[in-house]
Amino acid sequence: MSVAKKEYKRVTVKSLVEMKQNGEKISMLTSYDYSMAKIVDAANVDVILVGDSASNVIAGHETTLPITLDQMIYHASSVVRAAKRALVVVDIPFGSYQSDSKEALRSAIRIMKESGGHAVKVEGGEEIKESVKRIIGAGIPVMGHLGLTPQSIYKFGTYTVRAKEEAEAKQLKQDAKMLEKLGCFGLVLEKIPARLAKEVAESVSIPVIGIGAGNGVDGQVLVVHDLLGMTHEFNPRFLRRYMNLYEEMSDAISQYVNDVKSKDFPNEEEQY
Ligand code: KIV
Repeated sequence: MSVAKKEYKRVTVKSLVEMKQNGEKISMLTSYDYSMAKIVDAANVDVILVGDSASNVIAGHETTLPITLDQMIYHASSVVRAAKRALVVVDIPFGSYQSDSKEALRSAIRIMKESGGHAVKVEGGEEIKESVKRIIGAGIPVMGHLGLTPQSIYKFGTYTVRAKEEAEAKQLKQDAKMLEKLGCFGLVLEKIPARLAKEVAESVSIPVIGIGAGNGVDGQVLVVHDLLGMTHEFNPRFLRRYMNLYEEMSDAISQYVNDVKSKDFPNEEEQY
């Protein structure tokens, strides 16, 4: 059963604002490759995020910091080839936009030209203002990301909930308003108190997508490997697992190994 309020053949940044205005929640999921993105897109997920979480999930790094711009472009171009309906948003990776706004624009242009992605996402507020302004000035849609911004993990020192203290919450609210004013088409709020996230979502006209930010925002995002239970060591409170694919895949692969060893596979029908 579909609970969508309006059918969208192709989701755009404008559709997302419309969804917020109509009170329709926005669904967003990560994908890093063609096969997964095809499934995610066909399931009518509104936004596919080519997240720099590919650094953890695909490459096995401890943080998102090592992934490069070239690697993000490779992931994004595979996803774009699969996405027929969803808006594809691509993370600009750490080190490709923080040093100056010209470099930020060059990175965003490379993503748009070489991957065919529809928008970029950057982490941070006041400190990346000039970069956001310049990228939007070139006609590239930008999504902001505040709260627990994983590219700053070494500054935070821990993955615990952000903005519990008044000073950090105040700064986050200011940053959200500033990003809206600069022309960002949406915001991700990660791992902050639900009450604060709701307040931010109600204070801006652009869609606010939460991860670990409660139900008072305009939509939700998860890492698809977490939702499917392919990653089984990551168990934050905000995560709802819809499957235990780790176990199902392990069982299937063990079965295959047994079938090969026991000479059961291939059988008469599975050969020429
Ligand atoms: O990289 C990513 O997957 C993200 C989401 C967790 C929002 O930024």
